Amino acid sequence: METNCYQPNGQPPISCTDKPITAQIQIDGTSAAEYPPPRRLRTDEISQVVNDFRIAAKNAIEAVADEIGAEKVGIRLSPYADYNDSGDSNPEALGLYMAESLNKYGILYCHVIEPRMVTQFEKHETICSLLPMRKAFKGTFIVAGGYNREEGNVVIASGSADLVAFGRLFLANPDLPWRFEINAKLNKYDRNSFYTHDPVVGYTDYPFLEPDT
Ligand SMILES: Cc1cc2nc3c(=O)[nH]c(=O)nc-3n(C[C@H](O)[C@H](O)[C@H](O)COP(=O)(O)O)c2cc1C
Repeated sequence: METNCYQPNGQPPISCTDKPITAQIQIDGTSAAEYPPPRRLRTDEISQVVNDFRIAAKNAIEAVADEIGAEKVGIRLSPYADYNDSGDSNPEALGLYMAESLNKYGILYCHVIEPRMVTQFEKHETICSLLPMRKAFKGTFIVAGGYNREEGNVVIASGSADLVAFGRLFLANPDLPWRFEINAKLNKYDRNSFYTHDPVVGYTDYPFLEPDT
């Protein structure tokens, strides 16, 4: 939580530290974002907060699975992400625990961001791997984060994932499956229009391939 506006009576957000988020640059790399200093939780308050989040996530999974059937439910996890200084101290154990725990709900898929995407949209070298989660989860295992056509084919062929999800490439190429099929050139994505409020620019204006390409 990084701003006061979501807090009761506009009080400071809570954290395990009293330091504000250090990442000061917006996702488009341009304007600086400002975050207020949080209220540092007392040690005895932290376990309650962690438990609240745990129960909220569990409730959400159970409620949606009850309503529409677990076979129609998927989940996306980013145990390795460190966005806004919110990295976990042991993401490997966290991810594995989640993969194992989710098995009992029989949900359709578990979709996980690659450990190399520690920061959003930049690949980092890492020795961490999603393989333990892949092996533990009994449903369809989807990976995402920094893949292109070639790398996607490699991860599927190696059995390390059942499916690959593409974010930025799909955003910039509305006909991405077809382009992959015929190995066509891809449109380049424009970071400046990520998360834009504009209803058209950046989301629906990337061109389709010409039919005779
Ligand atoms: C404009 C934009 C919006 C995104 N919104 C979300 C989101 O709401 N939730 C989420 O988990 N990931 C979101 N992502 C991240 C992507 O789902 C994906 O994990 C990320 O782009 C890395 O995959 P890629 O290398 O294929 O782009 C977003 C990405 C972009 C470019």
